[in-house]
Parts: sequence; C-alpha cells; structure tokens
Amino acid sequence: MNKVALQVLFCVCSLQPAAMEKKHPKLVLFVLMFFIITISQPISSLDFVFNGFNNSTDVLLYGIADIDSSNILTLTNETDFVVGRGLYSSKIPTKSHNSSHVLPFSTSFIFSMTPSSNKETLPGHGIVFIFTPSPGIDGTTSSQHLGLFNLTNDGDSDNHVFGVEFDVFLNQEFEDMDDNHVGIDVNSLKSTSSHTAGYWPDNGDQGFEELKLNSGENYQVWIEYADSVVNVTMAPVGTKRPKRPLLNVSLDLSDVFEDEMYVGFTSSTGRLVQSHRILAWSFSNSNFRLNEGLITTGLPSFIIPKTPFYKHRSFIVGVTMGSFIVLVLIALFSLFFVKKKARERAAMEDWEFEYWPHKMTYREIDAATDGFSDENVIGFGGNGKVHKGVLQGGTEIAVKRISHENDGMREFLAEVSSLGRLTHRSLVSLKGWCKKEKGTFMLVYDYMENGSLDKRIYYDCDETKMLNYNDRIRIIKDVASAILYLHEGWEAKVLHRDIKASNVLLDKYMNGRLGDFGLARMHGHGQAASTTRVVGTVGYLAPEVFRCQRASTRTDVFSFGILILEVICGRRPIEEGKPGLVNWVWELMMQNQLLAAVDPRLRTDDEEVDKVLHLGLLCSYPDPNSRPTMRQVVKVLEGKNEPCEAETEDMEAYLLHKVKTRDMWINYSRSFGYALHPTIDNIRRSHSSFMSLSWTNSVVEGR
Ligand SMILES: *[C@@H]1O[C@H](CO)[C@@H](O)[C@H](O)[C@H]1NC(C)=O
Ligand SMILES: *[C@@H]1O[C@H](CO)[C@@H](O)[C@H](O)[C@H]1NC(C)=O
Ligand SMILES: *[C@@H]1O[C@H](CO)[C@@H](O)[C@H](O)[C@H]1NC(C)=O
Ligand SMILES: *[C@@H]1O[C@H](CO)[C@@H](O)[C@H](O)[C@H]1NC(C)=O
Ligand SMILES: *[C@@H]1O[C@H](CO)[C@@H](O)[C@H](O)[C@H]1NC(C)=O
Ligand SMILES: *[C@@H]1O[C@H](CO)[C@@H](O)[C@H](O)[C@H]1NC(C)=O
Ligand SMILES: *[C@@H]1O[C@H](CO)[C@@H](O)[C@H](O)[C@H]1NC(C)=O
Repeated sequence: MNKVALQVLFCVCSLQPAAMEKKHPKLVLFVLMFFIITISQPISSLDFVFNGFNNSTDVLLYGIADIDSSNILTLTNETDFVVGRGLYSSKIPTKSHNSSHVLPFSTSFIFSMTPSSNKETLPGHGIVFIFTPSPGIDGTTSSQHLGLFNLTNDGDSDNHVFGVEFDVFLNQEFEDMDDNHVGIDVNSLKSTSSHTAGYWPDNGDQGFEELKLNSGENYQVWIEYADSVVNVTMAPVGTKRPKRPLLNVSLDLSDVFEDEMYVGFTSSTGRLVQSHRILAWSFSNSNFRLNEGLITTGLPSFIIPKTPFYKHRSFIVGVTMGSFIVLVLIALFSLFFVKKKARERAAMEDWEFEYWPHKMTYREIDAATDGFSDENVIGFGGNGKVHKGVLQGGTEIAVKRISHENDGMREFLAEVSSLGRLTHRSLVSLKGWCKKEKGTFMLVYDYMENGSLDKRIYYDCDETKMLNYNDRIRIIKDVASAILYLHEGWEAKVLHRDIKASNVLLDKYMNGRLGDFGLARMHGHGQAASTTRVVGTVGYLAPEVFRCQRASTRTDVFSFGILILEVICGRRPIEEGKPGLVNWVWELMMQNQLLAAVDPRLRTDDEEVDKVLHLGLLCSYPDPNSRPTMRQVVKVLEGKNEPCEAETEDMEAYLLHKVKTRDMWINYSRSFGYALHPTIDNIRRSHSSFMSLSWTNSVVEGR
C-alpha cells in the first residue's frame, strides 16, 4: 500500500511544471491532494432551498402550523394560546461519522411577524429557529415558552435543543433584555447571549439600525456555524447581507447535538397574538453560498395598512354637515377608488414581473424593439433571432422570437412553464413571454450588456474585448455555481444539456450568467433521465451521449469541463485540422507541459491555473463515473478548506483511484482506436446517418 502511494506521489509530483516544483513542490502537491481528498470523501451532508413550501413533502407540521395556498409556512395565525412547529421532513446528520465533530452549517430564511389588525390585542410571542432531537410538540407550551419548552423542562441539559429566538416580549423570568431581541438559546429560554434586533449597514457610519421584528416586514436571517462559532445576521429582505454579524458567539455544540437532529422553526401565541410566517428557507452543510438561491424579490407583504382616512370619526361628522359636502366628497371618493384600483392593478403587474414570468402584450414588445427592426438584432438562437429592446420604463430587454411550429412550441413551453421560475444570480432570468397568433412566440430576458463569452476568449477575438485571467476564472466560478443550482438547488433536477461558451452571457459587471434553456430538461431528484434524442452542440457532448443517448448531470459536467479548457486555453473545442482540445491538453499534461496550454495572452503564473486545468480534464474525462459532481467542482473552485478526519486512509484510497484512472485513460484510447474525444471527421463519419448535428457554436437542429 505504502509503496504504491509513494510511487504515485512521485508521479503526481512530476506532473507539476518544473518552475513551480522548484518554488514549492510540497505545497502544490499538498494543495492538490487536499482538494482531491475533500472531493473524494463520502459527504454526509444536506442541502435544500425552499422558495415557498410544498404541502407535506417538504416539512413536517405540528400544532397549528400550516402551509397556505401561496406556499408560505404559517406557524401561527391569530388564534390565542397555540403552538406551531414546522420541521424539515427528516432527521439530518449533524456530526461527522463516528466522531464528536459537529458539521458546519449555514442556513438562511425569510420570516414575517404580523400583529393583529385589531388594535386592542398586543402582539406576541416570537419565532425560534431550532435543532431538536425529536419531532412533535410534546413537552412544549405556548406563550412565553415559544413552543420550545415547558415550565418544568426549561433549562434541562437533557433537552439537546439549540435555538435562535426572535422574541418580541420582555420576559423577566428569562432575563430578556428588551421586547425586540434576537437570542441564542441552548436547552433554555434564558439566552446565552442576545442583542436587540437589527443590523450594521455595510457602508457608512450610521451605526446600528434597529429593526422592529413584528412590523409585518419581511426579514432575511443568516445563521452560520463552523469551528465552534455561531454567527447570526439579519436584514430587511432584499438588502445585501451585512458583513458584520448581529451575534458572533463562541459556542461548542458537540454536547448539545445528538448525531442526528430535526431542524426547523417553532412559534407560539398566548394572550398576545400575531401571525408568524416563514416565506423561504435554505440550509446547507457544505455550500455556504447556497442561500443565494433564495428569492428575495416580489414576496408578498404583510404590513398592516394604516387606517384609511374615510374610516375616521371626523370624516363621519363631516358627512353629516351637509349634503353639498357629501356630494363633493362622494365625487372625490369615487375618484380616489378608481385611482386606487388602477394603482393596484399596476402594482400587481410589477409584482408579477419580478416574481414570475409575465405575459406581455405583443404591442409592448413590438414598441420596445422598434417593430423587430434588423438594427436591433443581437443574436441568432436555434429557432429564431434575438432582438434588443427597451421597455417603456427604460428597462433593457432581449427578446427571442421563436417561430417554428412544433419544436418552437416545445422550446417555448420548456422555458416558460417551469424553467422560467428558476432564479439564481448566475442565470439569465426570463422576465416575460408573449404569444402571437399560432406558432409565433416571444421570450423576454434580461439584457446582457457584454454579449456572450465566446466573443471574448478565443485567440482570434478582438484584442480590446479579450477577457483577462481574473475575469475568466470568476466567470468559470459563476457558471459552476449556476450549474450546481440547476442540479441540486431546486425542487427538480434540471439538466441544461447545452453548456458552452456562446450560452454564457456577460452582464454589465462582466459576471457570467448561464442562459438558453431551450434544450433543458427537468427530472425529479433521484429519477434517472429517460432516453432522448441526442441534443446539444458537437464538441461539448460527452461520449456516452453518443453511445447510449442518455443525458445526466454527468454530461453537463463534461460540457463544463470543456468550457473550462476553452476559457483557459483560448481555443475552440474542435477546430478543423487540429487535434481536439481535450486530447491536446491531455497530451501536454502527459509531457509535464500543462501550462503550455494556457492562452499565452493571459500572461499568468497563478498557481490556480494548474488546478483549474486539472479540474477541466477531470470533468471532461470520457468515463462518466470518474467525473466529479458539480458540488465537488464548486468546492475545488472555491478552495474551501474544511477539516477532515482520517486523512491518511483517504489519501491512499484516492491515489489508488488516480492510478486506475490514468490506466483507464490509456486503455480507453487504445481500445477505441481513435481519439478519445471525437474530432469533426470522426463524428461526420460515424454519426451523420442517424443524427442531425451542426458544428461548434451553433445549436443542433431538430430538437
Ligand atoms: C409538491 O410536490 C409534489 C410531489 O413532489 C408535486 O407533484 C407538486 O407539484 C408540488 N406542489 C407544488 C405547489 O410545488
Ligand atoms: C397536500 O398534499 C397531499 C399529497 O401530498 C394532497 O393529498 C393534499 O390535497 C394537499 N393539500 C393541499 C391543501 O394542497
Ligand atoms: C387559524 O388556523 C386554524 C387552523 O388552520 C383555523 O381553524 C382558524 O380559523 C384560524 N384562525 C384565524 C383567526 O384565522
Ligand atoms: C468508530 O466507532 C467504533 C465503536 O464506536 C470504534 O470501535 C471505531 O474505532 C471507531 N472508528 C473510528 C475511525 O474512529
Ligand atoms: C413538560 O414536558 C415534560 C415532557 O417533556 C412532561 O413530563 C412535564 O409534565 C411537562 N410539564 C408541564 C408543566 O407541563
Ligand atoms: C462569523 O463572523 C466573523 C466576522 O464577520 C467571521 O470572521 C467568521 O468567519 C464568521 N464565522 C462563521 C462560522 O461564519
Ligand atoms: C467573533 O467571535 C470570535 C470568537 O468569539 C472573535 O475572535 C472575533 O473577533 C469576533 N468577530 C467579530 C467581528 O466580532
């Protein structure tokens, strides 16, 4: 075992370029090993993002808790003396296998507390985010116990409960600091530490800004735990997460947590009542950026409107003062209502526009694009042209016009029906749609100022438009996080199936955003993709797609690997008269010349480039089972250092694995007789008979 390990150590070492080897060979090696160990470990972690809750499948409900018709988790309504609790549907692991090390976690949620519109009742009592060993609400009472404990078990170390309370009542028995605070509760409602609710805005010296918890406003909360430190941060929804946490507390949870716990929310009312709602929730043990998947715009508001003037007593007195005044007022009144109605309608549409793809009229789009004039054409998709447009409010949009009867219809439905609901920082979002007559559809997207990535990376692109190294790495990371979101961050698994440079668009700030979902498919998590026709773009298609015509998340990983290589090498995946990109890079790696593959115009000696190229090769490996998952890819790209146990054992396991893959690679190329990654000619020869394919950078016909 050890001997083999040593040999391979030597072997991997020699893969490093000579220059780097002199500087810090051990370090490079170790870093590489470390990533690989972390990615090859079985990960017993959990992630989920709920933008709205699904009745009964997502959460367990206890007490009065319910999921209302708009998919909001309503812990309590205005019924008095009740408890409501919602927990994630199963127990989750909270400790590393066979050890007392508590897994790090990051969670974010959006809540709203709305007092009763009846001014006579006082509002109370609050929401607690909890980890608890058992489901149900036995041993809890309402009112000041927040549905967390009861009179006898409060403070008992056998509770094994950790909570973060958002409390709006000053309880002297629990030494509460005020009637609007956030506190850390360990087995007891007496908080170990607490702070008045609020936040420190990032820029400026305004100092602390208090937030009134039960104003009906929607607030977002972030709770993170790692290395025995827990951070709690909150801000009004839509605000960027403040840098300085509200609570930053040293807290060892290893005695509090059992190996597996339930996680969720609990809440209660007493004589004091208010509605407690959770609008969205994300949780992850490994990806601390998963919370970016929460949708923070277009949420319903529960703020209680002020009493309108016409309900005031003085108004009624006014009415009795004379018929003349009454008539005038009635006139004003109806005007007011008409205006209000109109405003309401407008507001509703803005809301829809933010939250849901919105149906637009043909006239609106026609006006925005100057009647689809040729000057405004900014691109060509598979089924039609893409025009630039400006809406009346000044919002810039891109409009894709699809005409084809059948295939166009399929593409249109794929994008609007479900994919239109995907929201992520690094996806091009669908803003609206329009259907005109039979067979003409329009899809409206955010306009991307800087066009597509393929125009800015290849060696023959315009020197002034070329992206520098840091931009390229950032864009790779953006795209990776978007694909991870598609694969794992949403209620259904989404395969993009057409990841390539021309489908990566660049916004105003040169952030990469993945677009064009015309070929995407959705699957329930855990469901295998069904056999479909071969779709995608030659050069980015994984070998198994040709062999068994089956797409999976692994085929997206393959295309992403190709994308990495082309972005770093500045070369198209397939070019007439040249070896295929992957083969070329692989050959260079075998000759210890990997860095020669890097686009010479980038002039970088960043160590990261070596790691990224290796990653690109691993992703585009012909055997799908040897490719990493998107989660592992994101981890490597982010360079997340996580504590891991049993290093030595895993390192050996990994090294053996690596040897195998190198051999496999060589075997693979031998047994297939031609290049691992087909060139244009190979494909032409072997596949032209049963597929209609077009070449690099254009979409396959006949979807
Ligand atoms: C809830 O989940 C079920 C089963 O997974 C699914 O069929 C249904 O469409 C989901 N409902 C909503 C509102 O998302
Ligand atoms: C909740 O989901 C179950 C199946 O998962 C379904 O039978 C029930 O009608 C749903 N209830 C509501 C209110 O949507
Ligand atoms: C609160 O919810 C319960 C059950 O969901 C319902 O029976 C009750 O009428 C509601 N009360 C109010 C005041 O809305
Ligand atoms: C795991 O736990 C078992 C029994 O609890 C113990 O015998 C074994 O040594 C532990 N393994 C590791 C790697 O800690
Ligand atoms: C509190 O809950 C425990 C069970 O956890 C129960 O034995 C006890 O009687 C309860 N106390 C009160 C005052 O309800
Ligand atoms: C908590 O916040 C501090 C200060 O912002 C930060 O340095 C630390 O990494 C955070 N810890 C966790 C677990 O997020
Ligand atoms: C957060 O807490 C840790 C440990 O308690 C401390 O080292 C660090 O300085 C704190 N950071 C901030 C920003 O308060």
